[in-house]
Amino acid sequence: MENITVKDKEFEIYITSEKIQEAVRTLAARINEELKGENPLFISVLNGSFIFAADLLKKVSIDCGISFIKLASYQGTSSTGDVRTLVGLDEDIKDRTVVIVEDIVDTGNTIVNLVDQLNAMGPKQIKIATLLFKPDSYTKDITIDYKALEVPNDFLVGYGLDYDGLGRNHEHIYSLVSS
Ligand code: IMP
Ligand code: MG
Repeated sequence: MENITVKDKEFEIYITSEKIQEAVRTLAARINEELKGENPLFISVLNGSFIFAADLLKKVSIDCGISFIKLASYQGTSSTGDVRTLVGLDEDIKDRTVVIVEDIVDTGNTIVNLVDQLNAMGPKQIKIATLLFKPDSYTKDITIDYKALEVPNDFLVGYGLDYDGLGRNHEHIYSLVSS
């Protein structure tokens, strides 16, 4: 498959759309099994998780709801560590099982910040589902319940992931070509 250029950088194919779909199917099957009867509220973290959330929810067959929040912590190709809430949650999650849906958990700053915010709203329990997990970068103690794929510390774009706002639209996931 051909390399792509996003803004000023070159990226090579890393995970094909077929492999992504297979991982999403496996993860949805686990959720269907483990959260049956819970009527969970999925909370998709925008912008990055919109494609993953859509594909995942199409394969979740138990009763559930979905809502969206918008956070930002990245600038260019590195995490700033400072997490801002751009659009908050408009749903009551008191005593409800919540599943956070993330595109990628990197250092874990975003997820820890979000779990703190949601815990203050009194949910029954919080589960975390992420398409990608970077184990070598993760520095937190919170358990990531549902990880579709583990990846090394490379910078990735595509399938919702961006480089400076570009590249989210590609159906495969690509990694930065080191020059
Ligand atoms: P964390 O707070 O360091 O865990 O970073 C989480 C957020 O950073 C994710 O939700 C993504 O939006 C972004 N991010 C982390 N790694 C990458 C990457 O390789 N490509 C694009 N965005 C990334
Ligand atoms: Mg994100």
